[in-house]
Amino acid sequence: MSAAIIYMSHHGCTEKAALMLRKMHWKKVELFNLRNGPPSSLKKYDTVIIGGSVHMGLIQGKISKFCSDNEEILLQKRIGLFLCHMCEGEKAVRQFNEAFSEKLRDHAVAKGLFGGEFNLEKMNRAERTLVGRSGVKKSVSHLNKKAIEGFGRVIFHLDKS
Ligand SMILES: Cc1cc2nc3c(=O)[nH]c(=O)nc-3n(C[C@H](O)[C@H](O)[C@H](O)COP(=O)(O)O)c2cc1C
Repeated sequence: MSAAIIYMSHHGCTEKAALMLRKMHWKKVELFNLRNGPPSSLKKYDTVIIGGSVHMGLIQGKISKFCSDNEEILLQKRIGLFLCHMCEGEKAVRQFNEAFSEKLRDHAVAKGLFGGEFNLEKMNRAERTLVGRSGVKKSVSHLNKKAIEGFGRVIFHLDKS
């Protein structure tokens, strides 16, 4: 099995989730931060995981572009999609559904809402002001490790090995 995790992260939370997923599998899992560009080809991977985070209701534009540019090949792979976010419940689900196309969502074998973190130290002043308006006064982590592990078990077939 050869897998790629393709992600984007503003303040490190999605990267943390991607690293946790990679750690769950001792075989070949390569990480690609889209900030540094996409993999040259998806051909060699049978499993592709795509993850991003929500800011102002939207996933990173580079993730959306990567998904639409590669939709056809992604539909031939085993794929997992995940999102980091701080909104909960129905709003989180709505954000997930808006982040990834219906075709990819239907095709995905694993879908993850991982929660997220507010890391005030890594935010710029505008971001701190924005999240401060919704009452956030200190850094907090709601990253859902159980959700990440459950996702990893499904996408990497760990329950069957
Ligand atoms: C400026 C800003 C706007 C945000 N907007 C949203 C939002 O609209 N919905 C949401 O669920 N979370 C929102 N979040 C929370 C992020 O999704 C959360 O911090 C996530 O863990 C970020 O992951 P990253 O560090 O990998 O980018 C926002 C965070 C910041 C700093």
